[in-house]
Amino acid sequence: MFALVLLFLNAVTLTLGLDNGLALTPPMGWLDWERFRCNIDCVNDPENCIGELLFKQTADRMASDGWLDAGYEYLIVDDCWEAESRDSDGRLYADPTRFPGGMKALADYVHSQGLKFGVHQDFGHETCSHYPGSEFYLQTDAQTFADWGVDFVKMDGCNSDLGDMDYGYPAFGMFLNKTGRPMIYSCEWPFYQSVKHFKIPDYAAVRRTCNTWRTNKDIQDSWDSLLQTIQFQDQDQGNFSQYAGPGGWNDPDMLILGNFGLSPDMERTQMAMWGILAAPLLMSTDLQNIRNSSKALLQNRRLIAINQDKMGVQGKKIMTVGPVDVWTRPLLPTGSVGIVFFHSDVLTHGFHYPRITTVQAQALGLTASQGYNLVDPFDGSSKGTVKPSDSIKVRVNPTGVIMYVATPAS
Ligand code: GLA
Repeated sequence: MFALVLLFLNAVTLTLGLDNGLALTPPMGWLDWERFRCNIDCVNDPENCIGELLFKQTADRMASDGWLDAGYEYLIVDDCWEAESRDSDGRLYADPTRFPGGMKALADYVHSQGLKFGVHQDFGHETCSHYPGSEFYLQTDAQTFADWGVDFVKMDGCNSDLGDMDYGYPAFGMFLNKTGRPMIYSCEWPFYQSVKHFKIPDYAAVRRTCNTWRTNKDIQDSWDSLLQTIQFQDQDQGNFSQYAGPGGWNDPDMLILGNFGLSPDMERTQMAMWGILAAPLLMSTDLQNIRNSSKALLQNRRLIAINQDKMGVQGKKIMTVGPVDVWTRPLLPTGSVGIVFFHSDVLTHGFHYPRITTVQAQALGLTASQGYNLVDPFDGSSKGTVKPSDSIKVRVNPTGVIMYVATPAS
């Protein structure tokens, strides 16, 4: 029987795959988890707890403070929204005290602001924060989400059996497809396999199944965590970078900038690297109180355009010069290159100072004889034209980046 089910699921993935037409560029939006966690104390902290108010106020901000215009369209409710058990029909529902209107009404509100609505669920028997999981309820939950008008499902993997993931994640994808409602399917499947169980995930299968997939462990609000996350992308175990492209993206986790743990240079680093990595741009910050400098970075149209490049090729580290790593990503129009010089500061043993780095243009892939116009996407300033044999010289702050976009000169 089990073999038959597997056979059926294999046939389904082979014939259907993931064909929801979504995420042709990395999804952009907002997710509460890193900033707001599982704060369910709505009595003492009504504005910041996981409850209706936080999500409605955030939706208002996204619509009115330029976020939606910049492309941030998904508002996603992470863990801790659920009641402690299912209803008498076995369906999920939101905690009635914190979400008095329920999830359908919240989805309607979010849609009324021109945004799209997402929810978190878990593939196992409980979420990581111990709310009901989807084990044995995959089809019911897919239908419930469709009935509510959900546009994005983040499927976590706590409290589940590793052996179930390779057929269970595709099964849930099939149930989502069968509802007929297009929903972005965001999977944590490879992260649980690679980081928690030291198994190289089958990224080809992941790519066939999911629109985005978490590669690494949870990002936290600190430089250490951001650096480790970038290093994980660099190690690229299982060559996951090659699977990114329109419809499916590696997810290094949320944008933490705008919170408490990063300096201005570190914030620039995250925004530049998430662009080079073609990563989903899912902010997790307090939009009621965000600093102007962080807001300007997150809404920088030139940086967003790099991330959203329609060719959808993920960038790679191509060389290291002293403490400075150089990453490049091919961009449109054809022949253009996004370049990041990243002073990761790991080799300096406490001697933090800005480093001058000089690299010949052709070593960065700028080989066309007519040369390239260089622009700094942070401030839009032109850095002139370089020929392949010219040197590019930059001064990179510790933990910071210099970023250029090179476009073929006509
Ligand atoms: C896991 C996920 C996080 C978040 C939490 C919620 O740790 O990786 O992104 O969803 O669960 O409990």
